[in-house]
Amino acid sequence: MWAIAIRSCLFISMLAAGAVPVIAQHEYTSSEIEAGRQQYAANCTRCHGPDGDNVANADIGHGKFRRASTDEELVQLIRNGVPNTAMAGMNNISEPNAKTIVAYLRSMAATAAAVAALPTGDAARGKAVFESKGGCTNCHRIGDVGSRAGPDLSQIGAQRRSVELHRSLIEPDAEIVPANRLIKIVTRDGATITGRLLNQDSFTVQLLDAKDEKLKSFSKSNLREFAFVDKSTMPSYKDKLSTQELSDLISYLSSLKGQAQ
Ligand code: HEC
Ligand code: HEC
Repeated sequence: MWAIAIRSCLFISMLAAGAVPVIAQHEYTSSEIEAGRQQYAANCTRCHGPDGDNVANADIGHGKFRRASTDEELVQLIRNGVPNTAMAGMNNISEPNAKTIVAYLRSMAATAAAVAALPTGDAARGKAVFESKGGCTNCHRIGDVGSRAGPDLSQIGAQRRSVELHRSLIEPDAEIVPANRLIKIVTRDGATITGRLLNQDSFTVQLLDAKDEKLKSFSKSNLREFAFVDKSTMPSYKDKLSTQELSDLISYLSSLKGQAQ
């Protein structure tokens, strides 16, 4: 019994000594990280999973790697694969693209660390932030309270992990779920309307106008412009809320698993 306890202590301290946190070696731009996110989704998620922790012995979402430490070594590892494992080399990924994947791995680690460092959240306080200081109900609906300008969040806790919720609050433009993308249309007489796309066919398009929440239908032949908006209308809450408030909000959102309207 004691022997086992001592041995596992030793093991843990050895692990801790080996796991020196790797300091990011470059600053990456948000467009490099975004490009890497797409490359990761296309090439890595099926094995490593969205958080990088699906493969035994290879948790790649926390910035600590057993087989590589520098960014350059990671690029080589991606292109050469890991011998004698299921990970074959991916020479079809160019070196610049592999670099963007490394940028994304570094940003995943930073986000995971930021979420792990958040103070413990309180869902009841989060609900109060949602309804008052955060002004979230101006755009979002939960159950039958709030606005329809943004997505309904009644089930968001069943759909997104806390890391993703954190990202939505800090960097709303980073990853917009296709169904949530806003459409901007400009009619022939110059009126501009932005809203959520509800439906379209060859001749008409229906939107929910973000301004007055009314359903509007347009004949496509009357439109001068019809395009997705890349920027979210949602503001970043990075400097608007304290880390405690962010954590409370994430706890509240994670608890929402009810029926969407
Ligand atoms: C076919 C499944 C598969 C795919 C696809 C795959 N990997 Fe792997 N990966 C593995 C396996 C298996 C290991 C080795 C685990 C072990 O060491 O036993 C591994 C190991 C790694 C390691 C080393 C981890 C460490 O601690 O040193 C990194 C980094 C890595 N993969 C990144 C990626 C990236 C980035 C992609 C996408 C470009 C990718 N992998 C695609 C299965 C895969
Ligand atoms: C000015 C309108 C506006 C305000 C205010 C706003 N949001 Fe949003 N929010 C949006 C829009 C539009 C989207 C969809 C596009 C996107 O993902 O950025 C969105 C997306 C989200 C998502 C991601 C939804 C998904 O399906 O992944 C979450 C979570 C969220 N908002 C939470 C909040 C919270 C919490 C607040 C208050 C602190 C808030 N929002 C305030 C407009 C708003």
